[in-house]
Amino acid sequence: MMHAVLMRVAPHVDSLAEQPAHDLDGHVALARSLAEPLPEHGASLDDVLGILFDRAVPKSFNTAGPGYLAYIPGGGLLHAAVADFLADAVNRYTGVWLAAPGLVQLETNVLRWLTGMVGFPDTAHGILSSGGSLANFSAVVAARADRLPEQFLNGTLYVSDQVHHSVQKAAMLAGFPAGNVCVVPSDDRFRMRLDALEDAIARDRAAGQQPFLVVGSGGTTNTGAVDDLPGLATIAAREDLWFHVDAAYGGFFVMTDRGRRALAGMERADSITLDPHKGLFLPYGTGALLVRDVATLKRSHATEGAYLPPMQGQDEFFDYCQISPELSRPFRGLRLWLPLKLLGAAVFRAALDEKLDLAHRAADGLRAIRGMEVVAEPELSTVAFRATWPGVDAAETNARNRRLLDGVNRKKRVYLTATTVNGQFLLRICVLSFRTHRDRIDECLADIAQALDELAS
Ligand SMILES: Cc1ncc(COP(=O)(O)O)c(C=O)c1O
Repeated sequence: MMHAVLMRVAPHVDSLAEQPAHDLDGHVALARSLAEPLPEHGASLDDVLGILFDRAVPKSFNTAGPGYLAYIPGGGLLHAAVADFLADAVNRYTGVWLAAPGLVQLETNVLRWLTGMVGFPDTAHGILSSGGSLANFSAVVAARADRLPEQFLNGTLYVSDQVHHSVQKAAMLAGFPAGNVCVVPSDDRFRMRLDALEDAIARDRAAGQQPFLVVGSGGTTNTGAVDDLPGLATIAAREDLWFHVDAAYGGFFVMTDRGRRALAGMERADSITLDPHKGLFLPYGTGALLVRDVATLKRSHATEGAYLPPMQGQDEFFDYCQISPELSRPFRGLRLWLPLKLLGAAVFRAALDEKLDLAHRAADGLRAIRGMEVVAEPELSTVAFRATWPGVDAAETNARNRRLLDGVNRKKRVYLTATTVNGQFLLRICVLSFRTHRDRIDECLADIAQALDELAS
C-alpha cells in the first residue's frame, strides 16, 4: 500500500509548482458525483487513489503550492506527513503520561522549545491543539477561570476591530454573551487604540462589569498588523487583566531578529496562541497555546474519572488530558518534533527570514506600479493594497479592485484573497509557504500589473 501511495504522492508533490494556484472549474458537479452510499464491499487501492488524485485533489485551492498567497498559507512540510504516518501506525496513547511516557516526553520537549522561543519563564508550558481557534478557546477558558468567579457573566473582554473572528467565537463557546466582547477601534496602522481601550475598561467598570481579558494580535489576518504589545501588556498589568496574544499567524517570526523586534512585548503575555500549521509550515491540524503559568491551565481544564489511569504528580511531566480539553487525541507532538529534529531550528529561521524579505519585495514592486496604493506596509509577511484612480468614488474603486482580484486569480499562477477594512476593499499578499520564493513573487507582481492594464482596456 505504501509503495502504491508513494507512486501517487511523489509526482503530486513534485509538480506542486506547475499545478494551477487554484482550479475549481466544475467543482459543484464534481462534489455531487462523489456522493455515494456506504459501500458494502471493498474497492481496489488503485481505484481509491484514482478518486483522490485524478478527481478530488485537482479541483481545489493549491494550498501547498508556491503560488498560494491567500488567507494565511502554511505549506504542509512533508516531514510532518511522515511523522503522522509513524504516529498513526504505532497508535500509542499520549493523552495520559503513564500510557507512553517516552512519547509524551517528546511532545513536552516540543512545548518547552516553544515556550523558550517566545521568552516565557520556567513556570510556562502549553498544549498542542487542532489549530489557532481551539488554542484561543482554551486561552479564554483559562483567563475566565483565573480572573472571574464561577458566575462570570459580568466579565468583559477586549479585542480590536482587527482581531481574528476565532476570538469572538472562543468567547461565545466559553459562555459569554456577544455584548461582553468589547470591540476597540484601531489606529491608522490597524493596531488597537490604547486610549480607546482604557476608556472602554473605565466605562465598563463604572457600569458594574468585570473587565478580565485583553487580546492583542501578533499579526492580524487582515493586514498583518502587530498590536502595540508592550502598551497592551502595561495596561493589562495595571488593570489586572489577563493578557492574551493571538500570534497564530505571526508568532513564529519570533525566531528571526526582525520578527523578534516586531513582536517585542509578546513575552509579557499570560498566554500566546501559535499556529505551527502556519508559521512552521506544517500540514493543517496543529495549533499551540502557551501559558506563562501552567497551573492556570490545570485549574481550568483538570477533571477526574474513576476509570482513568493514575495521573502522575511531578512538575517536570504532563498529563495532557489534564491541561487541555481533549482526552483521546492524535500524537501531534511528533509532527513538530520530527521536522525540528531532522532539520534544526536554523532551517526554519532562514525560511521565515526569506518570507519577510519577500513581503518587502512585494511591497516595493507594488509601489512601482502606477496607481497602486500600499495600504498596509508589511510588518511581518503580509501586505495589503489596492489600486486607485483619480476622480473615481469609493464604491466604484471597490468594484474595480474586485475585478482586479479576479483578473489576477484568473491567470492561476498565484491565488490572492481580499478583505474589507474601513469600507475599503483591499487585496492581500500573505507570504508564508516554505515553497514560495522570489520567482513566484515576481510573477505575482507581473500578473497584478497586467490585470490592472486589462481593467483599463
Ligand atoms: C490571527 C489568527 N488567529 C486565529 C486563527 C485561527 O486559526 P485556525 O484556522 O488554525 O483555527 C487564524 C487563522 O487564520 C489567524 O490568522
